[in-house]
Amino acid sequence: MAENTPTKSAAKTPATTGGAGHPARASWSGKWAFILAAAASAVGLGNLWRFPYLAAKYGGGAFLLVYIILVVTFGFALMMAETALGRKTGQSAIGAFSAFGKKYMIIGILASAVPFIITPYYALIGGWVTKYMASYVVQPATAIADGEFFGGFILQNAESYIWMFLFIAAVVLVVALGVKRGIERVNKVLMVALIVMAIAISIFALTLPGALDGLAYYLIPDFSKFSAELVVAAMGQMFFSLSLAMGIMITYGSYFQKDQDLEHSVRRIELFDTGIAILAGLMIIPAAVAVMGSPEEVASTAGPGLMFGVLPQVFLGFGPFANVVGFLFFALVFFAALTSCISLFETLVSIVDDATKKGRKFSIAVCTTFIVVMGTIVNLGYNDLLSVDLMYSLFGIGDYQDAQLLDFFDFLSNTIMMPIVALLTCIFVGWIIKPQTLISEVKQSSAFKSQKLFVVMIKYIAPVFVVVILVAYVMNTAGIIAL
Ligand code: PFF
Repeated sequence: MAENTPTKSAAKTPATTGGAGHPARASWSGKWAFILAAAASAVGLGNLWRFPYLAAKYGGGAFLLVYIILVVTFGFALMMAETALGRKTGQSAIGAFSAFGKKYMIIGILASAVPFIITPYYALIGGWVTKYMASYVVQPATAIADGEFFGGFILQNAESYIWMFLFIAAVVLVVALGVKRGIERVNKVLMVALIVMAIAISIFALTLPGALDGLAYYLIPDFSKFSAELVVAAMGQMFFSLSLAMGIMITYGSYFQKDQDLEHSVRRIELFDTGIAILAGLMIIPAAVAVMGSPEEVASTAGPGLMFGVLPQVFLGFGPFANVVGFLFFALVFFAALTSCISLFETLVSIVDDATKKGRKFSIAVCTTFIVVMGTIVNLGYNDLLSVDLMYSLFGIGDYQDAQLLDFFDFLSNTIMMPIVALLTCIFVGWIIKPQTLISEVKQSSAFKSQKLFVVMIKYIAPVFVVVILVAYVMNTAGIIAL
């Protein structure tokens, strides 16, 4: 759920200076405003849709453990670096990097390319959620829980496009009409409702026969499940979910006031975002095991369709209330996806606006065209282009036709682009501008308790880790090693 994407008009208290000698820049009114806005931007389909299927696929507890370790070490250091860089320079990604020399602009450009890859497929999944929300109004819950429902919908041509276009239209309308602030206010309440409902559904799901096996699978790490692929997947998910390595947190940091505690805010955002991801897993994975029979079955079939296949079955358990529960739940997910997509879309618009200087209307038109065209292409991957498997043809990954275009773009952003951006950011901060530059920025407002962790992570562990894990993953995929 993204809200309060920082815009100048959104600021309540103007900052005196933007840092690094830049002109005054609008800023967040307080620490909590920043935490809420950034946490709400972080919480979206990444937590609700993506985290559960990856955890289910990659051994449950083993994935969860690696994920949590990554968030509190690598994720912490990177989020500190990005927000401090933003606050120091008072700029978004491209400007922030080039503030230290034109040649570093490339890191900002690469980071800015990531939301362009993510937004179209984010909108496609947003369309799926919209379809489910609407279906609970007009169809019996039993029909939606039918095994054929999901496939019948995404594989057939017309309807899946219509829902995606509707979702995109909602995003663009909110941005173009400037009613974002209103949506955001509603969103705050809805986010709480989503958490309450997810807890209730999790408790209910745990009463299903077989669910406790699923709970054990999700919470108890099985060390035999560790693999290079698992770690790569957990790392990509961490970037996606915390909105890292895509320039976004630099922009957020640039609106942060000079006297507010960065470290505390970063910890809070991580806690909130990870808490919701863990909760989403709790709601979906034990239920998936109950529905499908065994953790092995769940692991071998888990993919982007997991939540859409499993939750409708769980909702059937609510008997006469199944439709109400299903509608409410998907409506809340819809808002989470909508607000996050609005934040992504605004990011695209501001990048195009900065680059072309042709005005906001023009940039909105360009970005809308872009996501409609790209979203259509991704969607074709589930029907007319089903036989295209770029993961297999380009990278030799998986079996022919077991990956769709969505998997390809997801792979491109999460497994290739974001690790590269994260690596370059670590090298830039650790070895070029030096950690001290950002440490003194952080210390302007508070003590830096985890300063040592920050330095060691940024300079040594994180960059080495990214390289080692990517090399291991590539060698493993190529069959050179078995990890
Ligand atoms: N972090 C969001 C999620 O997990 O769904 C995705 C996202 C939203 C990324 C907004 C970037 C952004 F600006």
